[in-house]
Amino acid sequence: MSEFASKIVLITGAASGFGEATAYAFAKKGASLSLIDKDEENLGKVTEQCKKAGATKVLAVVADLRAEGDIVRAMNETIETFDRLDVLVNNAGMVQMGSVEDTPVESFDSIFHLNVKAHFHFTQLAVPHLEKTKGNVVNITSVSGELLTPHGIFYGMTKAAMNYFTKTAALGLAEKGIRVNAVAPAACRTNILKRPGAMAPGLSEDMLFGMEEQTHILGRVLIEKQDVVDSILFLASDSARTITGSNLCLDRGAVLAGPLYKGE
Ligand SMILES: NC(=O)c1ccc[n+]([C@@H]2O[C@H](COP(=O)([O-])OP(=O)(O)OC[C@H]3O[C@@H](n4cnc5c(N)ncnc54)[C@H](O)[C@@H]3O)[C@@H](O)[C@H]2O)c1
Repeated sequence: MSEFASKIVLITGAASGFGEATAYAFAKKGASLSLIDKDEENLGKVTEQCKKAGATKVLAVVADLRAEGDIVRAMNETIETFDRLDVLVNNAGMVQMGSVEDTPVESFDSIFHLNVKAHFHFTQLAVPHLEKTKGNVVNITSVSGELLTPHGIFYGMTKAAMNYFTKTAALGLAEKGIRVNAVAPAACRTNILKRPGAMAPGLSEDMLFGMEEQTHILGRVLIEKQDVVDSILFLASDSARTITGSNLCLDRGAVLAGPLYKGE
């Protein structure tokens, strides 16, 4: 039997992309799931698929993670339903392109609320429950948090903040037996790149992936959703019991190649 069959896993941003794929992977291993997203329609579809895939029990909570009250409600409903939490996957996020000169300052709050504050808040609320289960947190950051992305300045700042948070939370929570790690993918074809503001003017997805072939030393080796899912499941599992504060870069060698990154 899978080690996750008795576990409760909370995934934010579970209605699409990496979150959706991660939900299916945990479902196949028989985990119980608390799936959080603002997209009610897709969340309903993912919930049904997870039940069919073998999840023991699935709770779906429609919530806007930029609203603190929604985050508290999502965690409360999770604990009321399952009475425990083993794994928190802080995944929901948005991309916003723009440089120092052309990024509207008003968009700062929106992207930092979702990409940083929500993950901090979920983690803070999860601590007492993860302490009981000796559970763990997996944050989905980005290669943009490791590299310099002049035309995605707020996005890179949020992901760099999450790298800092991952390490400091790992330091602070180790004495409670809670591990905190991160997965940092390079660009992958999910819906995030199709959402408003995700592409710089004049840039297309194909151009982005074309540029990455130049800057990512593994060239044509593309990142699939499954690569990210595999890393999340590994870090969440007992196989990673000695690992905390790490940032697993699925970057096709981009970080190794240098700090100036012209991709995502
Ligand atoms: N796809 C990539 O190229 C890539 C690369 C590196 C890192 N990431 C990171 O991976 C994570 C997941 O991205 P993805 O590619 O799966 O994106 P996605 O757009 O496919 O999925 C994101 C999910 O988050 C949800 N969401 C967005 N705003 C929300 C809010 N305010 N409240 C609740 N839910 C909200 C969306 O409804 C969606 O279901 C993000 O943190 C992203 O920054 C993505």
